[in-house]
Amino acid sequence: MPRAALYDSVGDPDVLYVGEVETPPLGENEVCVRVKAAGLNPVDAKTRSGLIPAPPGAPFPRGTGSDFAGVVVAAGPEATYWDGAPVAAADEVMGWTTGASLREELVVPDTDLARKPVGLQFEAAGALSTAGLTALAGLRLLDIGPDDTVLVSAAAGGVGMVYSQLAIARGAAVVGTASRSNHEFLRSIGVVPVEYGQGLADRVRAVQPAPITAVQDGVGRETVLAGLELGVDPERICTIVDYPAIQEFGIRTTGRYERRPEDLLEVAEQVERGDVRIRIERVFPLEQVVEAYALLAGRHLAGKIVVTP
Ligand SMILES: NC(=O)c1ccc[n+]([C@@H]2O[C@H](COP(=O)([O-])OP(=O)(O)OC[C@H]3O[C@@H](n4cnc5c(N)ncnc54)[C@H](OP(=O)(O)O)[C@@H]3O)[C@@H](O)[C@H]2O)c1
Repeated sequence: MPRAALYDSVGDPDVLYVGEVETPPLGENEVCVRVKAAGLNPVDAKTRSGLIPAPPGAPFPRGTGSDFAGVVVAAGPEATYWDGAPVAAADEVMGWTTGASLREELVVPDTDLARKPVGLQFEAAGALSTAGLTALAGLRLLDIGPDDTVLVSAAAGGVGMVYSQLAIARGAAVVGTASRSNHEFLRSIGVVPVEYGQGLADRVRAVQPAPITAVQDGVGRETVLAGLELGVDPERICTIVDYPAIQEFGIRTTGRYERRPEDLLEVAEQVERGDVRIRIERVFPLEQVVEAYALLAGRHLAGKIVVTP
């Protein structure tokens, strides 16, 4: 039987273990994928730890992970890609699922995957769905373009690095917060780095004389307050973490945006073209799922963490 990362109770990374799971029978519009790579996201850790509650009555053992890339094992008779082309065995695909991507075999509806561009490595494709789709939703919400200078927080993180590079590809300038150890990486992708912490607005003014026109926040209050202090219109401040600030300051969020395969493909093609670089900190085999999540818990990463089931 295929193996999966599982847990029997919520908690720290060491609740995870590798066990066998049955692959459910395929529905008409479903696709069975042999997973080759699955990137970890903070949401996966928050769900496993119980910080984000599971739906009432969700049974144990539970699986973990959202993003994946792999190879189609079998497809239901009606399974098609978003453009209507049939899904076929041996196709290379990427997509998302709820709480189950760290497993050897996965069944997903055909609405939740796209063809993987040929030139894109499985590790990068398997780490792209959450960060890429969130980044694209943020750019679209604020309609970021060549007249913008954007302050991006956690710019070296999963969402931040994709957002920053997509913004630059649209002609915007980006100032990004990160730990000092990530500043060289930010410079290498065209972002002007600043350290986070008190006095952020002053540091941004010092490195970027042009006015900041938009903010994408992946950290919280500090970035929102810096954006307001820099005179950014609250309607052009987007947070994906500080929900109380939405009411309090009239800023915005992408919220529960709709995930669409064609959007994932759009980002993936930009990665394939080299407009967007996906930095990977480390790749772990499935047996080391506890170590992989422990590394994610450190929060100060140098790229995505990927598990290869
Ligand atoms: N609402 C949504 O739709 C949605 C979707 C995706 C993610 N999120 C949330 O957005 C956040 C970022 O996600 P991610 O995938 O980009 O996470 P990630 O890859 O784990 O990156 C986290 C980043 O946060 C930075 N960081 C840590 N402490 C910081 C601080 N005090 N000030 C500024 N930056 C700090 C780290 O930067 P350094 O390493 O440079 O210190 C790191 O690059 C998470 O909380 C996640 O849950 C929300």
